[in-house]
Amino acid sequence: MFKVRKAVFPVAGLGTRFLPATKTVPKEMLPIVDRPLIQYAVDEAIEAGCDTLVFVTNRYKHAVADYFDKAYELEQKLEKSGKTELLAMIRDVLPADVRAVFVTQAEALGLGHAVMCAEPVVGNEPFAVLLPDDLIWNNRLGSTGRGALGQMVDIAHRDRSSVIAVQDVPREQTGSYGIVDVNGVTDNPADIRGMVEKPHPEVAPSTRAVVGRYVLSPRIFELLHQTRPGKGGEIQLTDAIAALLGEERVQAYEFEGRRFDCGSRVGLVEATIQFALDHDDLAGPVRAYLEQALAEPRR
Ligand code: G1P
Repeated sequence: MFKVRKAVFPVAGLGTRFLPATKTVPKEMLPIVDRPLIQYAVDEAIEAGCDTLVFVTNRYKHAVADYFDKAYELEQKLEKSGKTELLAMIRDVLPADVRAVFVTQAEALGLGHAVMCAEPVVGNEPFAVLLPDDLIWNNRLGSTGRGALGQMVDIAHRDRSSVIAVQDVPREQTGSYGIVDVNGVTDNPADIRGMVEKPHPEVAPSTRAVVGRYVLSPRIFELLHQTRPGKGGEIQLTDAIAALLGEERVQAYEFEGRRFDCGSRVGLVEATIQFALDHDDLAGPVRAYLEQALAEPRR
């Protein structure tokens, strides 16, 4: 059975692009409207069928663990004052049948290393990796009724293969992504023939960029152990997947949904606007404000 129950969230990054806010608030806790960034990825994993969430954190990220913990005092207060809607909202952060496990990555040695830290919890079964920076919006689920990871899990299950989310990017941006080579095939999903981390536009094998969603066979752990530091001196997940290609089927999938790069400031702002426009109570005032702001002469 290629059943994906476990989802890994590498959240040990320093978030330097959001300094000074990230001096004390982890990047994953920055809000998009009223929910922290991490909640969107968590909801996507749960919708995809995952019931065990593995957070790979560092020693500065207590806020992430606190957020998923039970808030006794707050719950008691809300219960006493009859604020049932708010109570449900904070309890819904994690459904009762989903468990959160925290493992630490003592040293920032790269994404591949972060995924390796989850091995004791994941064990010998296929699993998902979600990079919360990549926020994927699909207007409360696409035509299949599945979020991006859910769509990938369905393909992985059907084809018994690993599946990597990809998106076409302008050629000048290949240096910011893992890039897959599908030998010019236009099928979706398509079998991956090669994969390279952040290639220069001139040598990139294509413009199909990996975005932060992966469904991986557990064989990846063995390969990660053998992976030497690559781009930037870090242990790259891309390099281990490139090795996996020689042994197992790995497919690239262009998901349905719009991705916001919330690892960048502009992406965070765009996501905030998009999600605000999606809230029934905010859409009107936010649209009115945007129209007014855009009508003002540029400074
Ligand atoms: C990581 C991966 C890269 C992938 C990207 C997606 O890079 O190493 O292959 O394309 O996430 O967001 P990072 O953005 O963490 O440097």
